[in-house]
Amino acid sequence: EKGTYPHYMLKEIDEQPAVIRKIVQTYQDEQGSLTIDKDILQAMNDADRIYIIAAGTSYHAGLVGKQFIEKMAKIPVEVHISSEFGYNMPLLSEKPLFIFISQSGETADSRAVLVEIKELGYKALTITNVPGSTLSREADYTLLLHAGPEIAVASTKAYTAQLAVLAILAEVTAKSRGFDSNYDLVQELGIVANAMDVLCGEKEEFEAIAREFLSTTRNCFFIGRGIDFYVGLEGALKLKEISYIQAEGFAGGELKHGTIALIENGTPVVALATQESVNLSIRGNVKEVVARGANPCIISMKGLETEEDRFVIPEVYGLLTPLISVIPLQLISYYAALHRECDVDKPRNLAKSVTVE
Ligand code: F6R
Repeated sequence: EKGTYPHYMLKEIDEQPAVIRKIVQTYQDEQGSLTIDKDILQAMNDADRIYIIAAGTSYHAGLVGKQFIEKMAKIPVEVHISSEFGYNMPLLSEKPLFIFISQSGETADSRAVLVEIKELGYKALTITNVPGSTLSREADYTLLLHAGPEIAVASTKAYTAQLAVLAILAEVTAKSRGFDSNYDLVQELGIVANAMDVLCGEKEEFEAIAREFLSTTRNCFFIGRGIDFYVGLEGALKLKEISYIQAEGFAGGELKHGTIALIENGTPVVALATQESVNLSIRGNVKEVVARGANPCIISMKGLETEEDRFVIPEVYGLLTPLISVIPLQLISYYAALHRECDVDKPRNLAKSVTVE
């Protein structure tokens, strides 16, 4: 039930802090330490390489998940679009583990890959929001998202839940491999949930940004480097699927290799600047597009902000920034769709779960 909310999407965006708290609670043992089923940990530790398979928003979560697993647990990870992997399987390592990420657990493209790799005798873990879903039943292991039903076609809370579960999986695996972190993930995810609350309280600001940058535009670009690039891909998908504005996400440094030709006077460019290591270079990329007439909307993080920034998100642990930097993008897309009188919860041509290949 959407209660007093005008749309499920807005309700689901607002539920994100509670979902993150629920996930942390659910994955804690009695002592308060994060914990993962020991068979799953064993499978992670037995693997020489992890293959993440997913589609759409879940694929975007996988791109961030790769960073978590490689940086925390130090296991190499490849991320593949399920519909591509199915028809063009890459050379596999000797001991692969497959992780399927799927909100619905019913995506046919992902299931086709699961069937194929099971036939080859490999192990699979499904990360899904739906207990008993096809991908959960047919995999060896399941981790649940605990996000509650997601009704709006555009995925929001499932994405941040996927990131939280992937971070927990990476962290617990890292501990089991003897890599000690200098932060407490339970505490850091608590900080993330609080930051989400702050952002969900700034709706007027995101409505104003949508009005200023997106009410009449034909197209919009999202740029970022590193994990900001992956969040930009998700921001672009959100915007195009519900507002029908043509939107594309690009790596900051890649724009000049062709795409910059599309920048005209007034073209909105949303730039994410939440990573200290690339803060200067992404700001350099913003200057390049501004020199061609772009209308820049810089979203940065506290501690890295400058005068030119349109919005500054609260500070959270560096690797976890995607969990909160996506919220402004979700809300900006929501308001852009609203201003353009689009059907926010049921965009044209789309279904909530895609059960055809
Ligand atoms: C985007 C969206 C889709 C899904 C994709 C995969 O908002 O909802 O891109 O993410 O169809 O769906 P699942 O995660 O159910 O496998």
